[in-house]
Amino acid sequence: MRGGKWIVVAFALTVAGGAQAAGDAAAGQQKSAPCQACHSTDGNSAVGMYPNIAGQHASYTVTQLKALRDGTRKDPVMSPMAANLSDQDIEDLAAFYAGQKVKLGSVPDDKVAAGAQLYRAGNSNTAVPACMACHGPDGKGNAPAGWPALGGQHPEYIAKQLNLYASGERSTDLNNIMRDIAARLSKAEIDAVSQYVSGLH
Ligand code: HEC
Ligand code: HEC
Repeated sequence: MRGGKWIVVAFALTVAGGAQAAGDAAAGQQKSAPCQACHSTDGNSAVGMYPNIAGQHASYTVTQLKALRDGTRKDPVMSPMAANLSDQDIEDLAAFYAGQKVKLGSVPDDKVAAGAQLYRAGNSNTAVPACMACHGPDGKGNAPAGWPALGGQHPEYIAKQLNLYASGERSTDLNNIMRDIAARLSKAEIDAVSQYVSGLH
C-alpha cells in the first residue's frame, strides 16, 4: 500500500511539471502576430531564407528561440525578434507552430537521385552518416532525441544552415553533431540534399 502511494505522488508531480512547461497553442497564435511578416500566418513562409516553422517539434523550436534570444545562436534578422520573448511566450509560440502543417516544396528532377543517396545512405568515402538515421526516413525527425524535422524546409535555408554549421558559426548542436557532418559535405552534396529534403515526407 505504502509503495503504491509513493508511485501516485511521483506521477502527480511529473504531470504537474509537464503541465507547467507546456505551451498554450491558442495563446501562441495570439502572440504570433509579429512573426507573420516573415513566417506567414501558419508558419509556412514565402521566402527561402525565412524557414518554415510549421509542424516543427515544439521542443526544438523552444531550444532555438531560447538560443536566439540568449545569443548562443545569432542572426541579424531573427535575433531581435526573439530578444523580448519570455519563456512562456516561447512555449506558447512553439506549441502553436507545432500544430500547423508544413507545406512541401517541389524537388527538381536532377537533384532527387543525389539528394536521396546522401540522405538515405550517407557518403562512406567521407564518413558522412545517413541523414535519415536521425532526421527520419520521412524527414520528421525525433522530438525526444532533439532531432528536428527537415521535410518541407526551404532549400535556401537548409543550405545556409549547413554552411553555418560547417564554418562553426552555428554551434547550437550538442557534441558538434551537425558541425562535424556539415564540414564533410561538398558544395554539390549540400545543394542536392537541401533540394531533396524540401519535398521529403
Ligand atoms: C523579419 C523577419 C522575421 C520575423 C518577423 C521573425 N523571424 Fe523567425 N526567422 C527569420 C530568419 C531569417 C530566420 C533564420 C535565421 C538563420 O538563418 O539562422 C528565422 C528563424 C526562426 C526560427 C528557427 C527555425 C529553425 O528551424 O531553426 C524560429 C523558431 C523562428 N524564426 C520563430 C519566429 C517567431 C516565433 C517569430 C515571432 C516572435 C519570428 N520568428 C519572427 C526571420 C524572421
Ligand atoms: C546523429 C544525428 C544526426 C545526423 C546523422 C544528421 N543530423 Fe542534422 N541535426 C541533428 C541535430 C541534433 C540537429 C539540431 C542541432 C541544433 O540544435 O542546432 C540537426 C539539425 C540539422 C539542420 C538544421 C535544421 C533547422 O531547422 O535549422 C539541418 C539543415 C540538418 N540537421 C541537416 C542534416 C543533413 C543534411 C544530414 C545528413 C548529411 C544530417 N543533418 C544528419 C542530428 C543529426
